Amino acid sequence: MNCIEQDSLSRRRSIYGLGKLSSAADHCVIDTVGDCLLHCPTAFNAQSARVAVLLGRFHRDFWQKVWEKMAENISGNNLKNAKIRNDGFAAAHGTILFFEDTKILAAFKKKFSLYQKNMKSWFGQGNGILQYMVWQSLAENEIGASLQHYNELIADGLNEWLDLPKSWELVAQMPFGSIQKEPAAKEFLPLEERLRVFE
Ligand SMILES: Cc1cc2nc3c(=O)[nH]c(=O)nc-3n(C[C@H](O)[C@H](O)[C@H](O)COP(=O)(O)O)c2cc1C
Repeated sequence: MNCIEQDSLSRRRSIYGLGKLSSAADHCVIDTVGDCLLHCPTAFNAQSARVAVLLGRFHRDFWQKVWEKMAENISGNNLKNAKIRNDGFAAAHGTILFFEDTKILAAFKKKFSLYQKNMKSWFGQGNGILQYMVWQSLAENEIGASLQHYNELIADGLNEWLDLPKSWELVAQMPFGSIQKEPAAKEFLPLEERLRVFE
């Protein structure tokens, strides 16, 4: 018997076949993201993660901008494949953008100079935990999502477009929506290679 509810953990997968949700789901997603932001653990309780939820035309325009950048930078089969992926993300209901507020990082580096070297990594880990919390919470609400990183491609001009503070640095993008296509079965490396218990 597993002490932790395995079903709940294995429900979160990278879902690429995404579709629209009812508009009633918007508040569920926004509340979920808000709860995750509040309850996510963060190094020094610094709470440096920032999030933007893109719905409707903002979601559509975001993936159009990614596509335009892709088309400028790649060609041939890579571009063809990128188009298929991009169309998939655009077909989703919305996109959650994760940022780090670099102002907070700078302030904490100054305040706790002894830990300067590791601070960026810890803050990044906190952002990753937040991303996971959101992904898991969406999965528990039967909302599919995947995690994307078009950061360098899209970061330029993004904050101006959304009127976000300059200090918000883009970390990851999470398209989400109804689950249109279940993911393939996942292959696992044996736990014996990955887990050691000492008792
Ligand atoms: C830090 C991190 C970065 C990832 N970056 C991407 C990405 O850029 N694009 C993508 O499609 N999936 C990305 N993934 C998802 C992984 O590919 C995926 O979690 C892994 O293959 C296991 O599949 P699962 O999510 O269905 O369990 C990322 C996952 C993590 C944890």
